Amino acid sequence: MYYPVARPRRLRSSANMRKLVREHYLRVDDLIYPFFVIEGKDKKVPVQSMPGVYNLTIDLLLKEVAQINALDIPGVLLFGIPDHKDSLGSGAYDENGIVQKAVRAIKDNYPELLVITDVCLCEYTDHGHCGIIREGKVLNDPTLELLAQTAVSHARSGADLIAPSDMMDGRVQAIREALDGEGFEEIPIMSYSVKYASAFYGPFREAACSAPQFGDRKAYQMDPPNKREALREAEQDIAEGADIIIVKPAMAYMDIISAVRENFEHPVAAYNVSGEYSMIKAAASMGWIDEQRLTMETLTGLKRAGADMIITYHAPDAARWLEDQI
Ligand code: PBG
Repeated sequence: MYYPVARPRRLRSSANMRKLVREHYLRVDDLIYPFFVIEGKDKKVPVQSMPGVYNLTIDLLLKEVAQINALDIPGVLLFGIPDHKDSLGSGAYDENGIVQKAVRAIKDNYPELLVITDVCLCEYTDHGHCGIIREGKVLNDPTLELLAQTAVSHARSGADLIAPSDMMDGRVQAIREALDGEGFEEIPIMSYSVKYASAFYGPFREAACSAPQFGDRKAYQMDPPNKREALREAEQDIAEGADIIIVKPAMAYMDIISAVRENFEHPVAAYNVSGEYSMIKAAASMGWIDEQRLTMETLTGLKRAGADMIITYHAPDAARWLEDQI
């Protein structure tokens, strides 16, 4: 008979034993919660493909933000859905645009809560692409100017961090220069440096009414099979002045999160995107999986992969479950 000398099971024998040797933790301090803001008053429109997520007018947004703040979640990420869209996405950089108004309202009421704004044109363009279109192509350089204007208008409204998600080349530098030129050199850029052209964004595009009206985003977002390219994107954004690197989506890209963590010293954020959330919600509603366990396992897995923070629609649930554990 052979008896193993090393028995890893010895350290799994009880809950307290497991606590002593636990390597990674999810904390409420790691979480960022996204919101979708719409024009008007007293409207809370459910996003069909994302149970528990709504399009909210600013008055109702403030009520939800109160809960996020009470849960001690450190930050929220805002997406604006304007009433009016046009070919240049002018609602994105309008001083009285939906996000600009929402930022001011939140900062007036909750000055300590970090307000992060997504900088992109796709929610504001009638064609649904993330930049200016000419002859069916998304133009890189002319788009930079509009993104920079958008970032400055968000900063003027009081945004604490600026998060460009458009995937135009050189946008971090363009935004950094524009922010610095307007006296916002202290505002960090949280760049969606590593953002793949992913089917996991499907439910988001319903929520933000931002599906491209023709073609797809493959000519600007990254090709999912590529990993070395992720490091090039991160390196370039860091050289341009990015302060935090976002990897998106998260679950199918944990190797990318871990590669970015190992190759750079900058904080890494994982974006646990809409489709990842909807898959868990859908399976849970069928009674096929345990929602709480699966959510916590997923989010903790992202920490283990190397994420310093996680943008997730599960944030309020996760925060409540973490509270229950204490
Ligand atoms: C805007 C943007 C998208 C997401 C975040 N910012 C959509 C896209 O690129 O199509 C996706 C977020 C999610 O799916 O939760 N460009």
